Amino acid sequence: MSVTGLLGTIQQIGRDSRTGGYHRPVLSAAELDLRSWFIGEAEQRGLDVDVDRNGIIWAWWGAPRTGSVVTGSHLDSVPGGGAFDGPLGVAAALEAVEVLRARGVRTDERSLAIAVFPEEEGSRFGLACLGSRLLTGKLSADRARALTDANGDTLGDVFARGAIDPAHLGRDDEALARIGCFIELHIEQGRGLIDLGHPIAVGSSILSHGRWRIRVRGQGNHAGTTRMQDRSDPVVAAAAMVGAVSALARDIDEARATVGRFEPIPGGTNVIASEVNFWLDARHPDDQVTRSLVDSIETACVAIAAAHGCAAGLTEESWSPRAEFDPTLARELLAALPGAPLLDTGAGHDAGILAEFVPSGMLFTRNPTGISHSPEEYAEDADVDASAPALADVLERTLT
Ligand code: GLV
Ligand code: MN
Ligand code: MN
Repeated sequence: MSVTGLLGTIQQIGRDSRTGGYHRPVLSAAELDLRSWFIGEAEQRGLDVDVDRNGIIWAWWGAPRTGSVVTGSHLDSVPGGGAFDGPLGVAAALEAVEVLRARGVRTDERSLAIAVFPEEEGSRFGLACLGSRLLTGKLSADRARALTDANGDTLGDVFARGAIDPAHLGRDDEALARIGCFIELHIEQGRGLIDLGHPIAVGSSILSHGRWRIRVRGQGNHAGTTRMQDRSDPVVAAAAMVGAVSALARDIDEARATVGRFEPIPGGTNVIASEVNFWLDARHPDDQVTRSLVDSIETACVAIAAAHGCAAGLTEESWSPRAEFDPTLARELLAALPGAPLLDTGAGHDAGILAEFVPSGMLFTRNPTGISHSPEEYAEDADVDASAPALADVLERTLT
């Protein structure tokens, strides 16, 4: 089957027919369906499937052994995401195995595995790249188990219901040692390849980025009886803070700051909220610039809160320093794909977490809308199908 054919078999899973966006939170019914789909496709290709203690699915071509070549991506999505973010890399990996087999490539000396990482987006438990952070020990098992989703269910309980024993979560040196190098193919999430007029790029680096929760506390009260001058309304304060986030980031070249999640408590039309929580996503190529942007946002939020009779505090939920992909591996990928440009990205990936531990690299497939984390994310069929031979080219070069 082709990559477009494979993606076609999952196009209805987790899709909102009204918006066309995908809702595939980790270990939801939709994501569990996708995990089963992947396992079925891998087994049909004669790969040996294993789910490790962190919920990462491994499909092996050749014996699981130290120093193997690993490719793959994720199957979970952001709320209302596109069809390609994650699944493209997984489907291309499945097809790349077929291409390599047809070319007569063997895995007697060095094995190949496809890895599917859980909760790459962090859309259920708030922490992106959760699987790779657990695998590498960047995230402690205790902290992971205690994370909660929007229903208040802990990650420990949700993983247990998904047949992943939460008692065994955590750094896995054996699994890590099996990764000789990791190569993730992904839809491009910006305009780089449109502007360069090329269908595929090799990744160079990922911007530093992180997530912070801002909690604004005021006085809950009655919408009809409380005079405007008597209010300590955290929604009004938080709205001004969101404006400040955007203004402060616009003043810094290459900075990005976003508030995409905003929750008034208790959230009633005729209720002045007692509290607002909103989440900041901030990014910049330079770690120190991201840090100092977040410091100035915090200072602005505290001042705005005070001016509205409220109090505000900021808590860091995750931090990823700038990730540089392995230059030797990047040269190999460029040699396997003559003419492909080198491109950095503002999006986070499991390959960025793994880059600190094992040689890691990425390939990006052109997205002619330049839009991602939205139903308008797109790729032409020809580029989608060309992803498999391109990935096969780089895997073949690293396997032999
Ligand atoms: C994931 O796509 C992220 O960059 O947040
Ligand atoms: Mn994404
Ligand atoms: Mn992704």
